[in-house]
Amino acid sequence: MDIDRLRRGLNTRLLGRTIVFFAQTNSTNVVAKEMAERGAPDGTVVIADYQSAGHGRRGRAWLADPGDSLLMSAIVRPGIPPAEVFYLTMVPALAVLATITTLGVRGASLKWPNDVQINARKVAGILTELSLRGRDLDYVVIGIGLNVNLDVARHPEIAALATSLSGELGRPLDREDVARLLLQTLEDRYLALERGEAAAILSDWRDSLSTLGQWVDVDDGGSSYHAFAEDVTADGGLVLRRDGRRLVVYGGDVTLAKPR
Ligand code: BTN
Repeated sequence: MDIDRLRRGLNTRLLGRTIVFFAQTNSTNVVAKEMAERGAPDGTVVIADYQSAGHGRRGRAWLADPGDSLLMSAIVRPGIPPAEVFYLTMVPALAVLATITTLGVRGASLKWPNDVQINARKVAGILTELSLRGRDLDYVVIGIGLNVNLDVARHPEIAALATSLSGELGRPLDREDVARLLLQTLEDRYLALERGEAAAILSDWRDSLSTLGQWVDVDDGGSSYHAFAEDVTADGGLVLRRDGRRLVVYGGDVTLAKPR
């Protein structure tokens, strides 16, 4: 990634004012957390061309070939209560969705809680991690992995489940342009949250979820079950109807059920 080229034309006032780039690192989230602990400024962005230990929710590996994907973690120090940190998973998911739609992708949506999909194949994942100082948020690291030019066919383990922007649009994309657009979109949403526009973010997120109104299979780590996804709660939980009973889940894997 050519960081000077990315910086040129970047009009953000917070995100990416400081950018730290690695040709290779373990995980941009790990590096960002270490930098945040050492006092890195609000809005610092860590970008890598390759991660040897990229990971996602539930300890899963995040696959990316060198130089093909956008692998980035932003450090923010938001003035919101820790109980509202779930908005910082909605905000990047909505920002990725808006970015790829602007780039011409059709059929993109969110899979609860924050996978970005194109026609039911995952194109981006988000890993938000937080640190507290006493009862307050100290910092939040927003990690985003976006398959820009990844050739999913090279990875049989994800080929049926994942896609990339180049695969969808039929041409390679300039990662610097994608990163610049994403940082700008992410900052707009993040500043809206800081201005108190949480209700609008929640409603955009709800409207973007392809999971709602569908039968789903839920894997909560210990057990698997079939349920109907009815709605989301104001704190980001998924409202399910299972055997006539209402329940709310906050974690686990939720996939659209195969027709029975
Ligand atoms: C998920 O889908 O479970 C989240 C995937 C998040 C991957 C990104 S890539 C950049 C950053 N560094 C990591 O190790 N993870 C996030």
